[in-house]
Amino acid sequence: MQSSKISESAVLEKSYTRADWQGGYQSLTQEFDYWIDDIEGKIPPELQGTLFRNGPGLLDINGQRIHHPFDGDGMISRITFANGRAHFRNRFVRTEGYLAEQQAGKILYRGVFGTQKPGGWLANIFDFKIKHIANTNVIYWGDKLLALWEAAEPYRLDPYTLETLGKEYFNGVLSAGEAFSAHPRFDPSCDRDGGEPCLVNFSIQPGLSTKITIFELNLAGEIVRKHAHSVPGFCFIHDFVITRNYCIFFQNPVNFNPIPFALGIRAAGECIQFQPHQPTRIIVIPRFPQPGQGVKILETQSGFVFHHINAFEVGNEIVIDSICYESLPGVEPESDFRQVNFEANAPGHLWRFHLNLQNGNVQSKLIESRCCEFPSINPANVGRPYQYFYIGAAHAEIGNAPLQALLKIDLESGERQLWSAAPRGFMGEPIFVPRPGSHREDDGWVLALVYDATFHRSDLVILDASDFSKGAIARLHLKHHIPYGLHGSFSSEVFAPT
Ligand code: CO
Repeated sequence: MQSSKISESAVLEKSYTRADWQGGYQSLTQEFDYWIDDIEGKIPPELQGTLFRNGPGLLDINGQRIHHPFDGDGMISRITFANGRAHFRNRFVRTEGYLAEQQAGKILYRGVFGTQKPGGWLANIFDFKIKHIANTNVIYWGDKLLALWEAAEPYRLDPYTLETLGKEYFNGVLSAGEAFSAHPRFDPSCDRDGGEPCLVNFSIQPGLSTKITIFELNLAGEIVRKHAHSVPGFCFIHDFVITRNYCIFFQNPVNFNPIPFALGIRAAGECIQFQPHQPTRIIVIPRFPQPGQGVKILETQSGFVFHHINAFEVGNEIVIDSICYESLPGVEPESDFRQVNFEANAPGHLWRFHLNLQNGNVQSKLIESRCCEFPSINPANVGRPYQYFYIGAAHAEIGNAPLQALLKIDLESGERQLWSAAPRGFMGEPIFVPRPGSHREDDGWVLALVYDATFHRSDLVILDASDFSKGAIARLHLKHHIPYGLHGSFSSEVFAPT
């Protein structure tokens, strides 16, 4: 446990070295299966279920480096908790692109090798490499394990073997190549479905105006509601939030110049430019549109948002908590992401927004100025008022730096708890898992993968969510590292090895 009071000299001294951080961006080519037997502490026996994680497993193809980690092939890691033990398995998603490149032993989907879909650049702009890499998130819903990537349909895998079964179209409701975002939200009790949980997701079809489609899936995994809305302007939207009645999107102030991409000079992501003098637009879409009830668009100050924490309704207001960046660093064609200068980039800060739906007024306030990303909350509070969240954070209180710590914030009292893996540990996305049968919001565990540069391996760390000061209650040492991942989820189903 590190004190959250860090002296000024400690802040000036870096809590990490770039060489250590770079170790987590090496490819993992092997696929493993084993019971984890190197454990410090004790796995709580009540912790039963399966943690799924997704992220780029390959940062090179046979020694040819890929340009950006977001372009790396999706690899699913699974940690099953059963009776105080834990089992690890990882498998690459066998996408068409992965199979073709592994067979060829070289990069096939770079630059001029990219195949364009019909429909011109507007139809292709989020196909950064025209290669479906299935690397952003993994969820278990409706008895299906789905690897998600925001520009195309999900890939379905067998939750026991992690074998790739093919693309998922939800009984034909999704069409071939149709997008299904990597950031679904899980409504724990949907009023329209008799209080049953439902999954809410979206897709973005950007252009001069942008089409936003909302999908709602029942527990059986069927799409029961689907509606599309057109909003003015180009949208770069990665995540959204829900309340009981609304879906809310932040339309980041960016320009998209398609010419270098159309000419094949740059990838689509390299053609997006942040516009610091334009406002952020907040798009509010009713989940159950009534006749005459349209999309509302509100404005707030400029900033860039990848991820939101949560949102809820209070009377005529919507409250939204989001991680905001003052600016967005451009992705440069000649740069190497491994050489990033953290201090030169804007850190993510946590802001709370109050949207008044009656007069369109938006108020915002800074909640946390420590650099933070990858939030998690109790799943029972999604779209509802809540008190606690858990988030990856920098070790130091100020400045931009890699995530090395876990931060818990009590939104009511303002109390902070920090657990840090610095100097040689680097933090992935935390996942909050409620203790079975518990009703206290922070009664449960926080699970996170930490890359440990000392041994070039990753640990699964378990914290008691109600009290970080205990330190890690268990630290499961894997036999290898897992490259820095993106998102994942926890299922209470135990997918034991077969
Ligand atoms: Co994300």
